[in-house]
Amino acid sequence: MTGTLDIAIQKVQNSRINQVDFDNIPFGKVYSDHMFIADYVDGQWGGLRIVPFEHLKLSPANAALHYGQSIFEGMKAHKGDDGSALIFRPEKNAQRFNRSAIRMCMPELPEEIFIGGLDELVRLDRSWIPDKEGNSLYLRPFMFAADEYIGVRPSLTYKFMIFTCPVGGYYSKPVRVKIETKFVRAAEGGTGAAKTAGNYAASLYPAQLAGKEGYDQLIWTDSKTHTLIEEAGTMNIMLVIDGKLITPPTSGTILEGVTRDSILALANDWGMEVEVRKVTVTEIIDAIKTGSLEEAFGAGTAATVAHIAAIGYEGIDYELPPVETREFSNKALLEMEAIKRGKKEDRFGWIHKI
Ligand code: COI
Repeated sequence: MTGTLDIAIQKVQNSRINQVDFDNIPFGKVYSDHMFIADYVDGQWGGLRIVPFEHLKLSPANAALHYGQSIFEGMKAHKGDDGSALIFRPEKNAQRFNRSAIRMCMPELPEEIFIGGLDELVRLDRSWIPDKEGNSLYLRPFMFAADEYIGVRPSLTYKFMIFTCPVGGYYSKPVRVKIETKFVRAAEGGTGAAKTAGNYAASLYPAQLAGKEGYDQLIWTDSKTHTLIEEAGTMNIMLVIDGKLITPPTSGTILEGVTRDSILALANDWGMEVEVRKVTVTEIIDAIKTGSLEEAFGAGTAATVAHIAAIGYEGIDYELPPVETREFSNKALLEMEAIKRGKKEDRFGWIHKI
């Protein structure tokens, strides 16, 4: 048992950490020693425990497998100079997790279980936090329906879990993206703002088609007119046009990104002009043609700041300015990385220290 939360801890007998090549870590394939679990039964969360990372035993009739009640979050921990673990803005993720839970008709999770579970797990596996610049310990909390029942109704039982994985970069180079005008990620009234498994599943086929045309990702457009840009699925989209930082508002069909919010805060702090408003595809293409589009990038926890190298639209690829010339996004990336690693003052109160 531990701390203020009652968490039973069963440690691994032999850590797997020595099998990991920390100089070459792929994203999302290497898992740390332990995982956190809590169960929702009879209307209450309980059974808080940390156990060795291992496979789950599930009924083939598990409700999440059939009807998709499944939500998740993503965060990163970095190592501070004093050996502490630093987590970036976990309260924001805890709050978004509960907004996703409400939309997917799942029970909310008390923030103290979300944060307390993270704290204890990261404390136990802190030696898995990579030292190397650009690498981090990715934290993956998730919740899924646990009922063994194939009638369609909200599950009565759920599992909340967290595992962690040391990761390198999500994208290894600037991305080529296609503006998608046929398929739709989210429609008004749908689940676009929720971080739920089905949103990602629905994006795979269109992304695969775009992949065959040489693109790494899609920029989704609105479901009604396909004239307004939304997000890229793994990240929010931000642009610098004529010195102004521009990004669409997160009004229901777009995920409320924590990195997006942090970059907006930095831009405001630096006195940059910021516009959170609808952005048309035409405006972007015109800005590329006239040379007023200076920067385009994706913002996400896994992706951090991912420069966009080229945008494809209606069969034409528009190459964007060289990455070295992109003053704002390069500066924002450096600043955020420095804050996350405790190398710069945490002037916004973003760092949760363990
Ligand atoms: C994240 O950035 O943490 C995400 O969840 C995106 C992802 C699908 C890897």
